Amino acid sequence: MDSFHHSPRGQLLCEGIPAADLADRFGTPSYIYSRQTLEDHYDKIAKAFADLKPLICYSIKSCSNIHICRILADRGSGMDVVSGGELERALLAGTPPSKIVYAGVGKTDVEIEAALGHARSSSTPSSSPPSVSLPALRGENSSPIAYFNIESEPEFEIIASIARRLNVKSHAALRINPDIDPHTHAYTSTGKKESKFGVDIQRAVAFFEKYGHDTHLKLDALHLHIGSPVYSTEPYVAAINKALALMDELARRGHKVATLDVGGGFGADYETDKSPLATDYAAAIVPLLRERVKQGLKIILEPGRSISANAGLLITRVLYVKDGWGTTAEGKAVPKKFVICDAGMNTLLRPSLYGAFHFIWPARVSENFIPPRRGDLNLPGLELCDVVGPICESGDFLAKDRYLPPVRRGDLLAVFAAGAYGMSMASTYNSQPLPAEVLVEGEAARIIRARQTMSDLLAAELQLEPRP
Ligand code: LLP
Repeated sequence: MDSFHHSPRGQLLCEGIPAADLADRFGTPSYIYSRQTLEDHYDKIAKAFADLKPLICYSIKSCSNIHICRILADRGSGMDVVSGGELERALLAGTPPSKIVYAGVGKTDVEIEAALGHARSSSTPSSSPPSVSLPALRGENSSPIAYFNIESEPEFEIIASIARRLNVKSHAALRINPDIDPHTHAYTSTGKKESKFGVDIQRAVAFFEKYGHDTHLKLDALHLHIGSPVYSTEPYVAAINKALALMDELARRGHKVATLDVGGGFGADYETDKSPLATDYAAAIVPLLRERVKQGLKIILEPGRSISANAGLLITRVLYVKDGWGTTAEGKAVPKKFVICDAGMNTLLRPSLYGAFHFIWPARVSENFIPPRRGDLNLPGLELCDVVGPICESGDFLAKDRYLPPVRRGDLLAVFAAGAYGMSMASTYNSQPLPAEVLVEGEAARIIRARQTMSDLLAAELQLEPRP
C-alpha cells in the first residue's frame, strides 16, 4: 500500500522517520511524500502493463511538484499535462517533449505555441520578469510535444492553423467520448455523453474524414479518459472495445491509428483492500490490446492518483477540540467532538468537494489504538468526531462522523493517501498560506516546496502602485 505505518509502539513512521519529527522540523500543515512509495507505485503499473510496452505519461495534475515529477521522469515516465503551467513543470522535471501529451478542453493560443516548441516573447503577462527559467515560455523546448489530445473540432482547427503559421509539425489524438459510465463521482466522470470532454464517438469518423489529412497536425491517434477513480475494470473494457471497433472502421476508410491512449483513473488505496490493483486493471486491459501492439499499435497510459495518492500524507496539528452534537440515522442527537485542525478544505479539498474518504489517525497513539486497517473504524474507546479546518464554511471538513482515538490540542493527525489532488488543489482561501511539501527518502527528509509566507501571499497585490 505505502510506506506510512504505525510502529508496534504506536508511532507513525514515514519510511524511516517519525511523522512527529517531520512536523516539528517542517511545521504543519505539511504534505509528506515517500519516494519509495512513489517509485513502487510507478513500477507496479510499468510491470503490470509491460506486455504492451506502454509510454506511461504520469498525470501531473494529481501531484505537480517538480521534484516529484523529476523522480518519475528519471524513471522513464512521460507526462500528461493539461495547461501551459503543467507543461513548464514537465519540462523543468526533465521530461523530453516527445514524452508529453496534452489534453484539456481550453488550450489557449499561447499554451499551444509553447507546446509546439515556440515561445511568444510577450506571453508573460506579469509585470515582473520570471525569476526562474521557464523552458516552454522561453522557447527552450524547441521540439513539439508527442500528442495534442484534441477535445473539439474548433480546437483541432486552431492548433493546426498555429502549427502551419509557425511551420512546425505535430501529432494529434482525437479524444473520443465513448459514452461509458465509469461509476464514479459526477464531477470526475468524463466519458459520458453529457460531459464536456472529448468528441462524441459518433462524430469520430467524420472528424477523421475532415481533418485526417492535415499536413501540420497529423491525426493518427485516439485518446480516452473515462473518469477517475474507476474502481472496476468493466468500464475500461467497454471503452477500449469501442475504441478498437472505431479504429477498425477508420482503417477501412484509410485512416491509420498508430497510437491508443487509454487515459488514467485507476483507483488508489484510500481504504485497505478496496481498490483493484495495477495487476487487476492490467489483467482486463492487456488481453484486449496485446495482439494490436504486436502489429505495431503504440499504447499510452495516463495514471495519476494510482502513482501519487498513496505516496503522500497530510500532517496537521489539532488546534482545539470542542464538544458538539451529531444526529443518528434515526434522527437522535448524539454527542460528537469537533476536532479543529490547522488544515482544512483550503489544504485538502477532496472531502468537501466530492465527499471523498481519507483515512485519518493520530500520528502517536497507544498500542491499543494502532489501526488494524484503513477504513471506517469503530474500536472500543474511540470517539465520534468531525475533523474540521479553520475555514469559515460549514463545508470545511476533512472527515465527518469519524471514530478517532481521543485527541487534544497539540496532537498531530495524519490524513492518508493525500498525495494526489491534495497540494495540487490547495488554495489560499481565507488568506491561508499554502502548506509545505516534504520528500522523505529513507532516513532523510528534505523540503521540496517551501511553505508559503504571508509576504508571498500578499506580494502580487502589494507590489502594485499606488500602495494601499
Ligand atoms: N488523464 C486525463 C485526461 C485526466 O483528465 C485525468 C484526471 C487523468 C489522466 C488522471 O486521472 P487519475 O489517474 O489521477 O485518476 N480532483 C479529482 C480528480 C480529477 C481528475 C481529473 N482528471 C479528485 O481529487 O479525485
